[in-house]
Amino acid sequence: MPATDYQLSFNAVDSLLNTFKPLWQLVAFECEHLPWQHKFPHLAQKVWQLDDAEIDSLDMDQLQLVETLLPSLICDIKKHLHPQAEELMSQLSLLAITLPTHSINPESIQQTPDRSQKNNNDKTKELAHFSAHIKGRKWQQIVAFANKVDPQNQPNLTLLPILEWCAGKGHLGRLIAKTQRVDVISLEWQARLCEQGQGFATQWQLPQTFICADAFMPLDPEKPLLLTQQHAISLHACGDLHVRLLNLAVSAKTQAISISPCCYHLIQQSHYQPLSIAAKASELSLSRHDLQLPLQQSIIATPKQQKFRNQQVSWRLGFDSLQRNVRGINAYLPVPTVKQSQLNGSFTEFCQWAADQKELVLPSDIDFTDYSQRGFERQRLTKRIDLVAHLFRRALEYWLLLDRVCFLQEQGYQVALTEFCANSVTPRNAMIQAIKTN
Ligand SMILES: C[S@@+](CC[C@H](N)C(=O)[O-])C[C@H]1O[C@@H](n2cnc3c(N)ncnc32)[C@H](O)[C@@H]1O
Repeated sequence: MPATDYQLSFNAVDSLLNTFKPLWQLVAFECEHLPWQHKFPHLAQKVWQLDDAEIDSLDMDQLQLVETLLPSLICDIKKHLHPQAEELMSQLSLLAITLPTHSINPESIQQTPDRSQKNNNDKTKELAHFSAHIKGRKWQQIVAFANKVDPQNQPNLTLLPILEWCAGKGHLGRLIAKTQRVDVISLEWQARLCEQGQGFATQWQLPQTFICADAFMPLDPEKPLLLTQQHAISLHACGDLHVRLLNLAVSAKTQAISISPCCYHLIQQSHYQPLSIAAKASELSLSRHDLQLPLQQSIIATPKQQKFRNQQVSWRLGFDSLQRNVRGINAYLPVPTVKQSQLNGSFTEFCQWAADQKELVLPSDIDFTDYSQRGFERQRLTKRIDLVAHLFRRALEYWLLLDRVCFLQEQGYQVALTEFCANSVTPRNAMIQAIKTN
């Protein structure tokens, strides 16, 4: 896509997110009612018409979620936001945006990485052995990512040594070392993962070397990590970690960069630090809590897991109402994670446990039935607030991705934003690929 198109897309998604901030930039468990119900009455009516099970299933499918809530949202836009209505309507398609796959050879994504037809059975066996200890979905991601960074499939790429950032056990780097026969350096800070990864590389006699180091360490000018003649890659390095890679690669004028970002909220600062000129000029200010929104897509859960989740939220919120009254402080008090077994007892036992954790003495005359009911009602409310916020999760991720894309363009890179595998393999399936042009 030409540079201007990404900038136009950024402006559109930025405007959409700004206009509808009241619907998504909020902390559901702090609310006592739908905070936007007066401005969006049709939407409020719609979410209360949905039963809890419907909400759970809609939440898993962005397209269905948008299709279900959009008619009510449009009614509200026409009524209350009509000066901007036309422009807003055109932006609403961004709620269900999907990225292009842009595979030069779409079939290659499904293929095993070694494309030779000869000795196919042997190769398949060898790959099965090669990937034996990697979980199915992870392996699918790795194969798809490796295909996208292979110059044999992507003619716009040249064969370059690889730097794999935040490599874990370096499975991706190892597959690339095997398929491309290039040198791979894998950076990872957990010594145990480095040792295991190095062991696999040695076993397979592959040119992969681990550097066991902190990605945030000050760089030694004598031994630069990032080079111009290099392809820097990163699969699912969290928040600041992939941003660090982008900054280092840009400074080193690294020829090719391929990243799939994740966990945008894992940042050192309290608020998101935009990278591009466009995002720096945006009115949006994103807290860590806001940055979790793109990750809030329920994965397929069994009815039992759903029940457990609902009960847990309900009890936590019931205890929250209780502790606010007991402490006389109207503020949330974080309670540690609970084990499933803790929810087999009674709500009263749960409250006693939570109070112990927080060294809170509970008076003897507490009406636990009342707090249990309050928790249940607050759980139903937060579910509806979250559902509406989730309408915007994809748009917010698009905003964050485009910030990275526009930044790289500003730094003289030709950039493509695509998906490297299906959403069902991982919802974090976006890939930013940048090639230095000047
Ligand atoms: C989500 S995992 C991704 C691993 C691998 N790229 C993959 O997709 O399987 C992130 C990795 O980053 C590593 N990591 C976290 N903080 C780091 C740091 N400061 N320096 C180097 N590695 C770090 C973690 O140990 C972990 O292995």
